[in-house]
Amino acid sequence: MTATSDLQEFITGLPKAELHVHIEGTLEPELKFELAQRNGVPLEHGSAEEVRASYDFDSLPSFLAVYYDSMRVLVTADDFHDLAMAYLRKAASQGVRYAEIFFDPQAHTSRGVPFATIIGGLRRALVEGRRDLGIRGELILCFLRDFTAEHAMSTLMEALPYRDWILGVGLDSDEQGNPPVKFTEVFARARAEGFLLTMHCDVDQDDTHEHIRQVLEDIGVDRIDHGTNAFERPDLVEALKARGIGLTACPISNGWISEGLKEREILGLLEAGVKVSVNSDDPAYFGGYVGDNYARLAEVAGLDREQLTRLARNSFEIAWLPDRQREHYLAELDAYAAT
Ligand code: ADE
Ligand code: ZN
Repeated sequence: MTATSDLQEFITGLPKAELHVHIEGTLEPELKFELAQRNGVPLEHGSAEEVRASYDFDSLPSFLAVYYDSMRVLVTADDFHDLAMAYLRKAASQGVRYAEIFFDPQAHTSRGVPFATIIGGLRRALVEGRRDLGIRGELILCFLRDFTAEHAMSTLMEALPYRDWILGVGLDSDEQGNPPVKFTEVFARARAEGFLLTMHCDVDQDDTHEHIRQVLEDIGVDRIDHGTNAFERPDLVEALKARGIGLTACPISNGWISEGLKEREILGLLEAGVKVSVNSDDPAYFGGYVGDNYARLAEVAGLDREQLTRLARNSFEIAWLPDRQREHYLAELDAYAAT
């Protein structure tokens, strides 16, 4: 079943914020080939179609292995710039007005790419995106949770000269055996340096409820990435509401990392009053940008315009925006929903 063309059009035009997208996860096979050629990096597959056909993930680790391997083609500041520009064009075409974009510096610095190269290329794209496409973008630095806390701390120190270009810090990669509290000190220091905080609590991971508890109580995050397993625990739902902590759900990604879109959890949280938003995660790998995620969720869960508008409203309400800017986007959303 597909969303009716009317609903599809409504979703595309719906002003929205994207708060959970890994820039490295937007590397489409065509661009991967272009960058590989530019940098003389040999690839295993012969065509973009072959690469796409090889994607067969059924867990977070099986996805991450392919995700990290692909990054070998990202070498120069121009590569990071071109990657981010391609994402911004695609996002703008699906109604994204504002994006908070994750990047994984340790996945690149550990291969010898300097921090300045990564952030320099990304930042240049954000400036151009704002100027030429009318989409505003900000960066969130993600630490890799399967690296040591010491490595995360030294990455935080490396990031400090660029603090004006980084809104906050996050935590991603393989969750198994890498609980939030492994990074308590790093996140306390990041907070003291003025960064906002988020962390992944990926769907259906071991100890997920304890991880959600830790990010709320021990780390004191400002937002949670995924975290939709909270729906299974009334105490966690209450804690999210009491603290006003939003979630960044990624329906299409959920089907690859676990099973199904988790529409029951996402809708249940929405109706319970938790500020849950819809996002794409790694769209080049999971086959769907943010508008596609709204559309798939609408198809599977039978969402109407009012519910879709509420999800988009949540995306601006839990975005790390200055109040004036938030009001501007919400007014645009209200005007759109009223027509
Ligand atoms: N890194 C990139 N995508 C991720 C995801 N969905 N979960 C954890 N780490 C990631
Ligand atoms: Zn993610």
